[in-house]
Amino acid sequence: MIEPEIFVFDAYGTLFDVHSAVARHREALGPQADRLSDLWRAKQLEYTWTRSLMGAYRDFRALTADALDHAAARCGGLPEGLRLPLLEAYETLDAFPDVIPTLEALKARGRRIAILSNGAPGMLASAIHSAGLATLIDVCLSVDEIMVYKTAPEAYRLVLDRFRVRPRQVSFQSANRWDIAGAARFGFHTVWINRGGLPDEYQDLAPGRILPGLSGLLP
Ligand code: LAC
Repeated sequence: MIEPEIFVFDAYGTLFDVHSAVARHREALGPQADRLSDLWRAKQLEYTWTRSLMGAYRDFRALTADALDHAAARCGGLPEGLRLPLLEAYETLDAFPDVIPTLEALKARGRRIAILSNGAPGMLASAIHSAGLATLIDVCLSVDEIMVYKTAPEAYRLVLDRFRVRPRQVSFQSANRWDIAGAARFGFHTVWINRGGLPDEYQDLAPGRILPGLSGLLP
C-alpha cells in the first residue's frame, strides 16, 4: 500500500476530549456529572443526524447548547451560574496527550494534516489555539460551509475538493465509530481510534485499522 499523503482527523473525541468540559466542573456538578456529560454528547450528535436528514441545519455551537439544556433538564438541572462556564469550557477543551506528539511526527515526515469536523469554524479555531495545535494543523475544514453534517458523503468530499486528491490518498482518523463508517463508505483509508475500548459495530463498513490511541498511527 502507498502511504497516504494527507492525514485527516476528526476533532471532538479524537483530538479533543469532549468530557473535559464537565470534568472541570465535576465538583459543582456532583454525582450526576458523568451522566450529564454522556447525555450532552449523545444528544449533540443525535441533533446533527436528525437535522441533516430534515435539511434543517443549525450550527454545532447552537446544537451543543441545545444538547446541554436537554441533558441538564434530565439530570435535575444545572447548579446556578454553571451553564455559561460549561459552554465556554467546550471552546477550550483539552487535547488528548497523544495528539501533539503524533501530529509532530506526521509533520516531520512531510505529511499534510487536516481536521474535518462538524464543529463550527469559530469553536474549532478556539479549541485548536487553546490546545496549542495551531502550527501543526495545515487545514481545518468544517461542514459548516455545506450545512450538512457527517456522515453525509458531501462532508467527506470537502477533503478532496480542498486538496485535489482521490479518496485513497487520504487516511482518516476518528474515535467515533459512526464517523469511521461514513469515511470508509466514502473510500478513505480509515483508522478507528478506539479510545473507549468499545465493541465494534457497522460490520459492513469496517475500519482499515483499529488503534487504542493515536500513538500507534505511525510505524
Ligand atoms: C466532529 C465531532 C462530531 O466532527 O466528533 O469533530
